[in-house]
Amino acid sequence: MTTATVASTELAEAFRAHPERRYVMFGGKGGLGKTTFSAATAFWLAEQGKRVLVFSVDPQASLSDIFQQDIFGKGPVKILDNLWAQEIDADRHIREYQQEIRQKILDMYGLDEVPQEIEDYIQAASAEPAMEESAIFDSVVDIVNQGDYDFYIYDLVPLGHALYYLSMAKVYDEWIARITRLREEMREYEEVAARMKRQKEVDEDQILGELQYIRGRINSASRILTDRQRTAFFFVVVPEQMILVDTKKAAELFSKFDVPIGGYVLNRLIREELLSDGAPGFLRNRFEMQQGQLAEIHRTFGDQVLAHVPELERDVTGLPMIERVARLLYGDASLAGAKGEAR
Ligand SMILES: Nc1ncnc2c1ncn2[C@@H]1O[C@H](COP(=O)(O)OP(=O)(O)OP(=O)(O)O)[C@@H](O)[C@H]1O
Ligand SMILES: [Mg+2]
Repeated sequence: MTTATVASTELAEAFRAHPERRYVMFGGKGGLGKTTFSAATAFWLAEQGKRVLVFSVDPQASLSDIFQQDIFGKGPVKILDNLWAQEIDADRHIREYQQEIRQKILDMYGLDEVPQEIEDYIQAASAEPAMEESAIFDSVVDIVNQGDYDFYIYDLVPLGHALYYLSMAKVYDEWIARITRLREEMREYEEVAARMKRQKEVDEDQILGELQYIRGRINSASRILTDRQRTAFFFVVVPEQMILVDTKKAAELFSKFDVPIGGYVLNRLIREELLSDGAPGFLRNRFEMQQGQLAEIHRTFGDQVLAHVPELERDVTGLPMIERVARLLYGDASLAGAKGEAR
């Protein structure tokens, strides 16, 4: 492995082989390079003439950091031709969500103001992580439903989250399906229904409608995450023992939830050329350690390892560095084929 740019990589090939893919995610533990690879992939695709949105719901605003531009909570911000970046302000979405709930309660029950008891409940519920998750969920669904990009690159926060969405989607889905069924069964009992107060019936239908709406939203988000045709989830791996252990576990969980794993991308590899005679011991040791882990990674993931990115001399921020990572991830090849080939 060298730093010299390669003509193409297996990762570029994976994109060429699946032109129907539109949703791309890089997952993995904290700090391995998810944001870096998301930005570099967005850069490469935009360079190929594709309209790309790279977005995140990370309150740490890491896309602002990598693109060296304040984009937090500003909607899609144009970075380059064909390339937009967006950082969702989840807190603001939670506040909007609360407002929406208040309004619905007012409408449903014909009230002028939200009773204190319910207001307290809304406040308490907002402190729940689930509330934050569903606000995030909702914004993600809006983004992918409303935009007209060729590619959506979702810069994920560390592992747990995507799984949380999926497990939540399954639970909600079952729960709502059960309520819907009950409600529909009730409808069949015409006589019983006739005895119900008219007002009550209307209220319950609105509640059912609301539940079905929520279920629809959650399903469309989890459908995207598990869409074998259009979605690819790549794991970022740095060759270290604990990372490999966690990645294997995560990969198992992901397949359990039917997330289509596109492959594995290795990051921060120590280049052998650095090991000249005067190379410090720690670097040599680190190199040896990585070699051992790399062998294990290749044994475990085989040809699913799609690209190797070396440890660079500095953090990846700013377009020139992003472009460099794009070259390392995808080589010089275009999306259509070898360099210079018409698309
Ligand atoms: N190959 C590399 N060489 C040098 N620095 C790198 C390399 N890859 C990533 N970095 C740096 O490592 C840090 C973490 O990378 P990045 O933010 O992409 O990780 P992440 O997986 O998105 O982290 P988080 O889990 O916090 O979102 C950043 O400062 C980034 O610039
Ligand atoms: Mg990140």
